[in-house]
Amino acid sequence: MLNFNFCAPTYFEFGKGTEAQAGPLVKRFGGTKILLHYGGGSVKKSGLLDTVVASLRESGLEFVELGGAVPNPVDSKVYEGIELCRKEAVDFVLAVGGGSAIDSAKAIAAGAVYDGDFWDFFQGKGVEKALPVGVILTIAAAGSEGSVNSVITKESTNEKRGCGGEVLRPVFAILNPALTQTLPPYQTAAGSTDIMVHVIERYFSNTKEVEITDRLCEAVLKTIITETPRVIENPDNYEARANIMWAGMVAHNNLCGVGREQDWVSHGMEHELSAFYGATHGAGLAVICPAWLKFVSRKNPGKVVQFAVRVWDCDMNFEHPELTAAEGIERFENFLRKIGMPSSIKEFGAKEEDIPKLARHIGSVSETEKNFGGYVKLDLGDVEAIYKLAY
Ligand code: NZQ
Ligand code: ZN
Repeated sequence: MLNFNFCAPTYFEFGKGTEAQAGPLVKRFGGTKILLHYGGGSVKKSGLLDTVVASLRESGLEFVELGGAVPNPVDSKVYEGIELCRKEAVDFVLAVGGGSAIDSAKAIAAGAVYDGDFWDFFQGKGVEKALPVGVILTIAAAGSEGSVNSVITKESTNEKRGCGGEVLRPVFAILNPALTQTLPPYQTAAGSTDIMVHVIERYFSNTKEVEITDRLCEAVLKTIITETPRVIENPDNYEARANIMWAGMVAHNNLCGVGREQDWVSHGMEHELSAFYGATHGAGLAVICPAWLKFVSRKNPGKVVQFAVRVWDCDMNFEHPELTAAEGIERFENFLRKIGMPSSIKEFGAKEEDIPKLARHIGSVSETEKNFGGYVKLDLGDVEAIYKLAY
């Protein structure tokens, strides 16, 4: 196990009706003038926004509203939010929605107290200061409610990039599983896929002797495998929703990642599908991650075999462990198909001739420096080969 530090001080208010705590929690964490930030309207339709507004008013808090954070949130909305925060002397940003609204809120929170262009943070500059961010989550997926990250797309260049900093970790997150019952099945399934891949990016590591972290990862994966079909079958299954919602947090606040190297190739490759074709993040991962597993299992099968046996309950074939690995990947793919996820990047509109462009566009490093991954080191040709497997 490698040395690590871990400090994840988000306060979680979990359960039915907890959205009514929005006002008291903002107050407790020092907010007086709030930017209330949300997405395209699901929070209005469900009545959640009204509840949150009532709670803020009851607590005597002033607020300004900014809706319109789109899935795969964009820089123009962040600039708008930064301007609004400065004009209105906002001191707390409250996101109501999914990863997109939360990430947009985080970028606004960082940009509002920074003299330069907020995009600097998405080109490698560390985030040292930000307004505090609170969250009311409506979809179990990105894990942004407990993470230090924000992912934003710069529209003019199609760059979908991430940034990170401890100051971006939400100070509180309200998690009411019932709020996720209005999700369309595709978004529920994409969210579960994202949760699984957050774990997989951390599970596939060459660092030895991280049994506790491996076992935590396997518990999260097995929970998603059990609970997702239950909510696809019955969207109102609160208990299954609750398990998935907490799994989404546990998967991405890095509890499942500490003490070892991580990978993150599938995410890098998927972000190009979101940037160029507008793919839903989790749906893109449903295609990329199995393709990546197939590719790396040829070069470094060990952990893929463990994944097959421990997560997918495959029988160990001691003579031909590669067959065990292949069966595990197949079971993963079958699961993804069963919950309604796509199986080819064609389904997003990708063409085979786009593949070199996609591979070259990943990350912001120069072409000669491109190397990716941790579990298996990949060059540009390997990344293209994985996109081809996903095609
Ligand atoms: O915009 P609204 O109207 O709210 O609709 C959303 C959106 O269309 C809808 N939705 C959300 N909750 C709902 C609902 N519809 C009905 N009922 C509800 N309860 O679902 C759609 C997707 O929402 P979005 O916020 O985009 O989903 P998600 O949480 O999957 O976030 C995706 C974004 O997070 C980034 C992704 O790249 C993507 O941009 N990620 C952020 C991470 C982080 N900050 O740590 C890590 C992740 O790996 C990921 O990259
Ligand atoms: Zn993700």
